[in-house]
Amino acid sequence: MFTKRHIISTRDFTKEEIDYVLNRTEELEIYAGGQGEGARKKSGLLEGKILANLFYEPSTRTRLSFEVAMKRLGGEVINLSSPETSSAAKGENLVDTIKVVSEYCDIIALRHPKEGASRMAASFSPVPIINAGDGAGQHPTQTLLDLYTIKKENLLDKLAIALIGDLKYGRTVHSLAYALSLYGAKLFFVSPEALRMPEEIKMDLREVGAEISEATDIKEVIEDVNVLYVTRIQRERFPDPTEYSKVVGTYRITTELIKRNEDVVIMHPLPKIDEIDGEVDRTKNARYFIQAFYGIPVRMAVLSILLDR
Ligand code: NCD
Repeated sequence: MFTKRHIISTRDFTKEEIDYVLNRTEELEIYAGGQGEGARKKSGLLEGKILANLFYEPSTRTRLSFEVAMKRLGGEVINLSSPETSSAAKGENLVDTIKVVSEYCDIIALRHPKEGASRMAASFSPVPIINAGDGAGQHPTQTLLDLYTIKKENLLDKLAIALIGDLKYGRTVHSLAYALSLYGAKLFFVSPEALRMPEEIKMDLREVGAEISEATDIKEVIEDVNVLYVTRIQRERFPDPTEYSKVVGTYRITTELIKRNEDVVIMHPLPKIDEIDGEVDRTKNARYFIQAFYGIPVRMAVLSILLDR
């Protein structure tokens, strides 16, 4: 059923493979901790295994939730979280690092500013590589936890979703859009003109029959969707800071807006900066904190599948 050795891009997956991960996630959620039932259940599923977290870009949730996922299943974790204090600062290239670190561990989660870095790393690694974000490319485990959140809302088979914000540089929306096309979701891409979804991604999506529409203002589509997936502007990926200053603050989700669709589910991969009004956090619509929690069971599932446990 699950044939992949590495997890690099959502484009590599079939719907059956994604469903397999989501079902495994459901089974493992009782070990995920948090405030629920799982806080008391222990598992030794990954005992004796070591995960290496190689993060060459900032991260809070992704790195910590990989670490927690591994530890809750009895495994151990080694971390490279500040490239300034590792040999990358001396000029070591990624291939050499991967060749060495893959001898130190059983599986690697890699985040890197260069698009394609994980696929390249995978071709040199005897242990599984999980892409934890490659530049503006892909972030497949984020997509899996996004899908798990949507599944928990019973919306996966009747989804109409607006992806809002920086669709040009946002890797979460690139990954998610491909996966959603497998579920027959209606996709609404909502962004400032300068941050539209790249043409080649839209072409690929249309080729597989995805239903896509585009808008610049969320008010145009809010009544047609059951999920809003909001993203921040990826400031660090702008080649020119004046381009950033032209789009900053151009969209914002408010309680006023939600009144137009009172049941809408609001998601966000986090971190959020100023694109969601603080008051929205207290509404029943906001799901982004539970969404971030699901990163733990989803990454437990990914680790255990790739490690054959
Ligand atoms: C995202 C990322 O790193 O792409 N963060 C995350 O992993 N939850 C989103 C972002 O940084 O905007």
